[in-house]
Amino acid sequence: MPSDKYVLVTGGAGYIGSHTVLELVKAGYKPVVVDNLCNSSEEAVRRVGELTDSKIPFFKTDLRDKEGLDAVFKEYSIESVLHFAGLKAVGESTKIPLEYYDSNVSGTIVLLKTMQKYNTPNFVFSSSATVYGDATRFENMIPIPEECPTGPTSPYGHTKLIIEEILGDAAAADSNLKVAILRYFNPIGAHPSGRIGEDPQGIPNNLLPFVAQVAVGRRQKLQIFGNDYESKDGTPIRDYIHVVDLAKGHLAAMAKLDSVTGQDGQGYFREWNLGTGNGSTVFEIVHAFEKATGVKIPLEVVGRRKGDVVNLTAKADRAHNELHWQTQLTIEDACRDLWKWTTENPWGYGGKPE
Ligand code: NAD
Ligand code: WQD
Repeated sequence: MPSDKYVLVTGGAGYIGSHTVLELVKAGYKPVVVDNLCNSSEEAVRRVGELTDSKIPFFKTDLRDKEGLDAVFKEYSIESVLHFAGLKAVGESTKIPLEYYDSNVSGTIVLLKTMQKYNTPNFVFSSSATVYGDATRFENMIPIPEECPTGPTSPYGHTKLIIEEILGDAAAADSNLKVAILRYFNPIGAHPSGRIGEDPQGIPNNLLPFVAQVAVGRRQKLQIFGNDYESKDGTPIRDYIHVVDLAKGHLAAMAKLDSVTGQDGQGYFREWNLGTGNGSTVFEIVHAFEKATGVKIPLEVVGRRKGDVVNLTAKADRAHNELHWQTQLTIEDACRDLWKWTTENPWGYGGKPE
């Protein structure tokens, strides 16, 4: 239930954060956004304000800036934190791992200490299916349940798992702290208004943003990273989830945290997968995009990308049963919404570079 208090959204100018801020305002919550804008634009927050006819407090602050963060908590009475802020590119994390540990892990520790100082109880963390690594190394772990042993394979994935562990330890030691770990599968799409969406800097790493840039003429062709996997058409399987469904999952997690209390002197801690429960191959996604947009995507099959696994499909039952949340939108909806965002903002939030 929305209260008079505020919800701090770290990384709220980013892709998933901005969509969640929009859903928060629509549901009657009062978000405050903190973001250092290293991978985003303040324009996203401004547009969310425009879409909801509201003014969203925004602070251009790095999470590691202890005084800057403290000032936000001093000014606003914060009841819940949705923690999206962090670096997220798997490949880049292998090149600059210390930056990843510093921003993701150190940033989270400063945030948790500040929450403790101000007695803020609720914490929702943006984790990732990447914490599971290759779940096919075990039998019967596809679709992947939350009990699947973890085993991330990149510095980025390690930071996510380490943060989960820090949160588990912190909740065990603090009866006031309630933690929801949300392990996202593959978020795609954009808000149906076409006003907010994903705006990757440089060459997109992820499949759908790349496909959209090919479709709009910013890139020549899509490279398919391997068609010799054990799947129906040889390409890897992922659980693609519409970003608006994903955003709504955060409201479900907040409601859950409101309804629970810690026990035996400990706080509360629980993990949930946020996915659809259905897998699609790369070719299926490309065909869905072509069907939704009427644009043919030029492509070539090249070798496997290092670190890719064959199947990341969520077992989504826990979120369904305990958070009373499930996805409502389809891959076709996501492709349609991505296309509207891309055609109406072909250069994202900025203008065309000189
Ligand atoms: P994003 O890069 O669009 O958003 C992250 C935001 O955090 C950006 O606006 C960035 O400027 C900000 N930020 C980064 N470091 C910061 C710091 N030290 N202090 C303050 N702000 C900082 O990414 P996204 O796709 O919206 O992802 C949000 C979260 O979800 C991330 O934690 C990511 O790891 C996680 N996640 C994303 C995916 C995905 O495929 N997009 C999948 C699983 C998990
Ligand atoms: C999807 C499929 C590629 C691009 C990553 C992170 C994961 C999570 C989500 C944050 C794969 C294929 C891709 C291209 C291709 N993020 N592909 N050509 O790798 O499943 O997950 O984003 O937590 O941690 O690892 O997503 O979109 O990069 O790839 O063929 O140009 O598309 O091989 O099979 P991925 P993706």
